[in-house]
Amino acid sequence: MIVNDAPIGIFDSGVGGLTVARAISAQLPRESILYIGDTARSPYGPKPIADVRRYSLEVLDTLVDQGVKMLVIACNTASAAMLRDARERYDVPVVEVIGPAVRTAMSTSRNGRIGVIGTEGTIGSGAYQDMLEVNERLTVFAEACPRFVEFVEAGITDSAEVLAVAEEYLAPLRDAEVDTLVLGCTHYPFLEGAISYVMGPDVSLVSSDTETAKDVYRQLVGRDLLAGPDAVTRHVYEATGDSAADFLRLAHRLMGREVSEVQLVQTGAIDLRDIPSG
Ligand code: DGL
Repeated sequence: MIVNDAPIGIFDSGVGGLTVARAISAQLPRESILYIGDTARSPYGPKPIADVRRYSLEVLDTLVDQGVKMLVIACNTASAAMLRDARERYDVPVVEVIGPAVRTAMSTSRNGRIGVIGTEGTIGSGAYQDMLEVNERLTVFAEACPRFVEFVEAGITDSAEVLAVAEEYLAPLRDAEVDTLVLGCTHYPFLEGAISYVMGPDVSLVSSDTETAKDVYRQLVGRDLLAGPDAVTRHVYEATGDSAADFLRLAHRLMGREVSEVQLVQTGAIDLRDIPSG
């Protein structure tokens, strides 16, 4: 049985999913959150898709073992690698980040030219391209931006180097005259200033954090799973790496004091051969 006052389980490879957690708690302030950053194995972007799939399922199992009422895959790379597996494996509802961003991008673009940026894993999977190009009116221009995650995980969001790298990655999309750019990685909202500066004010940025939070809202209401009137709201943050202090320091740098404490957690190991291929 799913308990209404149980937390929403959210996960990412590191701090990127905090952007999704922040958007969820802004729209649903009474909900409790249990967040896991898989810092021991971050970044996911450059890793083979089979590894990302296994890591992600291990983290999601850990969240389910702790009694969450919903799973939010707050990582595009993980969403691209294992969405279907997750929907089959768990009894609680599963929300991911790609579908909500795709729907918003489709309704935002006026000229039909949409840019997508993400990790090598996300862009290489073709997940965004496939979903967007179902609409024949749209042309998709996709670019992997691997160094963006490195900057965010180092707490660097406003240096001259960030701007120079953003210019290098985004110039082809600006030249392609996209009018909408999907930030297809949950780390990227922390770089929105630089990305928006390079793309210019006429390009609409679609960000998976706020779009996913709307989907969480819709699903909780639709399934009658909102926290009850007497719910005690708790936000708990866990990391799989060996330093809770590092994660906390970075979270403070990026999010302010919203994250007050980080606990270390270990995921169980699963064997992918036990799981039907997704
Ligand atoms: N935040 C993750 C995403 O949305 C990726 C970061 C990573 O490479 O680990 O794809």
